[in-house]
Amino acid sequence: MCGIVGYIGKKNCVPIIIEGLKRLEYRGYDSAGIAVINEAKSTVIKNKGKVSLLEKSTENVNLNSPLGLGHTRWATHGIPNEINSHPHCNHDQSIMLIHNGIIENYQVLKTMLIKSGFKFISDTDSEVIVHLIDSFVHKGYGLFKSVRFALNEVEGTYGIAVISTKEPDKIIVAKKGSPLVIGIGENENYLASDVNALIAHTKHVVYLEDGEIAEVYADRFTAKTIEDEDIQKEIIELTMNLDEIDRGGYPTFMLKEIMEQPDSVTNSMRGRLIFEEGTAKLGGLEAVLNKLIHSKRFIISACGTSWHAGLVGEYMFEQFLRIPTEVEYASEFRYRNPIINEDDTIFFISQSGETADTLAAMKEAKRKGALVLGICNVVGSSIARESDGGVYIHAGPEIGVASTKAFTGQLTVLALITMLLARKKDMSLADGKALYNEFIQIPEKINRILALNEQIEKIAEEFKDSNNFLYLGRGYNFPVALEGALKLKEISYIHAEGYPAAEMKHGPIALVDENMPVVFIAPKDSTYDKIVSNIQEIKARKGRIIAIASEHDEEIDKLVDFTIKIPDTVRILMPMLTVVPLQLLAYHIAMKKGLNVDQPRNLAKSVTVE
Ligand code: F6R
Repeated sequence: MCGIVGYIGKKNCVPIIIEGLKRLEYRGYDSAGIAVINEAKSTVIKNKGKVSLLEKSTENVNLNSPLGLGHTRWATHGIPNEINSHPHCNHDQSIMLIHNGIIENYQVLKTMLIKSGFKFISDTDSEVIVHLIDSFVHKGYGLFKSVRFALNEVEGTYGIAVISTKEPDKIIVAKKGSPLVIGIGENENYLASDVNALIAHTKHVVYLEDGEIAEVYADRFTAKTIEDEDIQKEIIELTMNLDEIDRGGYPTFMLKEIMEQPDSVTNSMRGRLIFEEGTAKLGGLEAVLNKLIHSKRFIISACGTSWHAGLVGEYMFEQFLRIPTEVEYASEFRYRNPIINEDDTIFFISQSGETADTLAAMKEAKRKGALVLGICNVVGSSIARESDGGVYIHAGPEIGVASTKAFTGQLTVLALITMLLARKKDMSLADGKALYNEFIQIPEKINRILALNEQIEKIAEEFKDSNNFLYLGRGYNFPVALEGALKLKEISYIHAEGYPAAEMKHGPIALVDENMPVVFIAPKDSTYDKIVSNIQEIKARKGRIIAIASEHDEEIDKLVDFTIKIPDTVRILMPMLTVVPLQLLAYHIAMKKGLNVDQPRNLAKSVTVE
């Protein structure tokens, strides 16, 4: 949510900032802006629209400066337009600020500042911070102290960066609730809301924690808490490479990430499966294993696609571990004062590890004494760092806004956790080994599904003009139906709903006529016969049926309009296969409608506001 970038050093910062913003555009793309200081003179350029437009505007002005900030916005307060885009400035453009997050008490602060004579030009909450800083500068404080004092007055979340023409040797950065990372170079330093913007320049980074503020010079940085205590920050070396965040020859990040799944799933399980013991080894859980296994209850909390993975996790945990499991939307969980006991374990699933609702729910659960575990993709993310333990999915950077390979990575890790705990409970060695054998075949089976790409594209052609879709599945495949529907609506803007197949009779069947495509997830498992009855019910009402079915199921061809035949596996691993054709179907429908699948309207990856 909103990308922020900054540079201080000897080079011209403009191309560095523009390139960084392009790498962060998946966080927000409704407007963008840049502010630079050269010889105590500031220049600010802002545009509604994409970073490419901003790039053109900067080329026309021919900027050259060793200090600057850039921002790509996902609007919260105020429509996307030039005035509301960042950087925001004080009256004489001597102080410039970029902000990611939400200032909750901005109205009160704005009224107070207006009374004191400050003039506002935008509708944003962010603008109050820059005037507040200015109000302290007016009182004679330096930039660092002014920022610190200002932040003591604001309520809400922020990742900010501030520069001033009066102190052009530094950038002030601070964090609370929104990510901020400093990139350490040689006689130059960088900052960004995530490491993707830095990786081309440095692998050495410092993550700010909530309540920390830093003064970043070209050759050094110092950090304090907002309360003014000195702190030492650790410099971390990143292991990620630049080619991981490029499209790698694919037309879109989303297609690249779908196609990468045989590798990303392999990476999620790499080194973690032990054949001889028919179990899994998960280093991040070792220290908490005893408490974990004796938990009375599991709760899984997450948002969006990660929540769907959590629903699959519920089936896994209850079937194999017999531990009661509840799955909660993180946004609801934190606001309804949930009953949490000390013998509960709460898993927080998040690709980005920065989702504001999930992070806040985690902090609440921690406060109440539960064991708090993270299942994240982004290494070093807030959720990963604040949990008592956890497991990374190691799917590699996910840039497409619609989550694909993170979902299969999350399912892999949930199945590994299940295997590890089940082997400590009732699962026999033989069953553990059988599960191992199924597990290691998954990447190759995903490959076989990806080979159906052209067939799925043809089905997409048939249905691209539909206005509605139903997705139906049972058991482990009910959450997959929800995920298939979410993929379609977020990138193709077609209304789609996922339902448990049998539940359809209790309402949604009223929607079915000859114009309603219905996607059934119908592999040959123990619910197969029931699903076939549900297919008959839709067929009787003339719905057009696409079935995701087992490779050797010939019966189903007679019942449905289109089949996508996929390999089988055991039930616990099946969602890792059944979701793949649904990702491709949504992808091709959206592409055929001429839409931008990597940056769908109104969305942004990593929702760091509540
Ligand atoms: C859907 C999607 C979102 C995210 C959700 C949670 O394709 O990407 O629904 O799954 O915003 O994000 P994370 O997993 O980063 O917490």
